[in-house]
Amino acid sequence: MDHPTPPPPHDSSPAGDPAPRPDAPLTDQLLLTIMQEISRDAVLSLDPQGRITSWNQGAEELLGYPAAEVLGRHFDFMIPDDLKERGEVTRLIEETERKGFLRDYETRRITGQGKEVHVLLTRMRLLDSDGKLLGATAILRDITARKRMEDELVRARTLAGIGEFAARIAHEVKNPLTGISTALSVLRDTLETGHPHGELHDEIQRQIFRLDRIIDDLLTFARHRPVDRQQTDLVNLLTRVLSLVQDSGNLGNVKVIQYLDDEATVYVDPSMMEDVFFNLITNAADALRQEEQGELILAVKPGPRGVAVTITDNGPGIEDEVKDKIFDPFFTTKTRGTGLGLPISRKHIEAHGGWLRVLSAPHKRTTFEIFLPLDAIAASMTDNPVT
Ligand SMILES: Nc1ncnc2c1ncn2[C@@H]1O[C@H](COP(=O)(O)OP(=O)(O)OP(=O)(O)O)[C@@H](O)[C@H]1O
Ligand SMILES: [Mg+2]
Repeated sequence: MDHPTPPPPHDSSPAGDPAPRPDAPLTDQLLLTIMQEISRDAVLSLDPQGRITSWNQGAEELLGYPAAEVLGRHFDFMIPDDLKERGEVTRLIEETERKGFLRDYETRRITGQGKEVHVLLTRMRLLDSDGKLLGATAILRDITARKRMEDELVRARTLAGIGEFAARIAHEVKNPLTGISTALSVLRDTLETGHPHGELHDEIQRQIFRLDRIIDDLLTFARHRPVDRQQTDLVNLLTRVLSLVQDSGNLGNVKVIQYLDDEATVYVDPSMMEDVFFNLITNAADALRQEEQGELILAVKPGPRGVAVTITDNGPGIEDEVKDKIFDPFFTTKTRGTGLGLPISRKHIEAHGGWLRVLSAPHKRTTFEIFLPLDAIAASMTDNPVT
């Protein structure tokens, strides 16, 4: 928080005008009324007990409560619980009383619809002509969009940092791992058939393959790989990946429903798309492991603006708090997961100019939706238009 230097006593303007203003209290109130009328920001006033005494149109819009619902209530109902626990209410009151005002304080508020908004708060003490405390006025400016952009920027920088770091580690680990694997094969060859250590060697080899796969995932995530576009039959690719997962036994007796009738030949990187389909179908298979009547629905829908592919399962669904993190690298809820499947998939799709998103709630179907826009697949349009 930026603590501004306190202004001179109350009879000077907040802008620092040193000239005394004998009519200051009246002007303050008049100013407040005008501000409330014209401001697109939320402008409200409070009595000395912190109860709301006025609430303008901007406040109705930003905070989502009509004036009638809030007049007379203590202002603390808008403050998120975590901030209340950290003493935000007392802090605001004390700081305003001590300095006379509080400027550009970044905080959060809860709207009538239960949403959280980021706001820039300016608060001023209101006194009457005898210097008696009338209460306070507060102006709240919506900075949610700016905060979101800042968070995205920090996230992008963090991801880039993680990527670089991961790539360096992966390079360092990959060579010795190859060495271990080769040495192990040599040792394995010296064992007679049926030797009790044979199984042990095989298990070590399996674990080495697993490590190797994790490192490959890390490198895929960290490296910038140019998109190598080729004419690709998306339906054919999707069914091939489906068979691969089925053959590995991961889908058990899950019922697979396919809406793949449409012709969808597109101009994409087939190996990237294969990674994406593999990750999404494997995730669905993992989610359906405990389900008695598991269903996997695959659909490819060419449309006027591009091709949509959806992969849906009727597994347990995803809680909101988890949903916020599933595209973060290394986030996993699985004991043997790496948490790179979805970030890699999103990266591949975005490299095609498309997007990957999830629709899910607990005990509801989970759908991962891929969209590849027309310009990303444009080269195929001339001979094979997507309608
Ligand atoms: N279809 C789904 N249903 C429920 N949860 C899912 C589904 N797909 C993904 N998730 C959640 O998202 C998390 C991240 O998925 P992601 O594919 O990135 O990593 P992972 O599957 O855990 O590990 P891996 O690196 O092996 O793919 C999963 O651990 C799981 O909690
Ligand atoms: Mg996965």
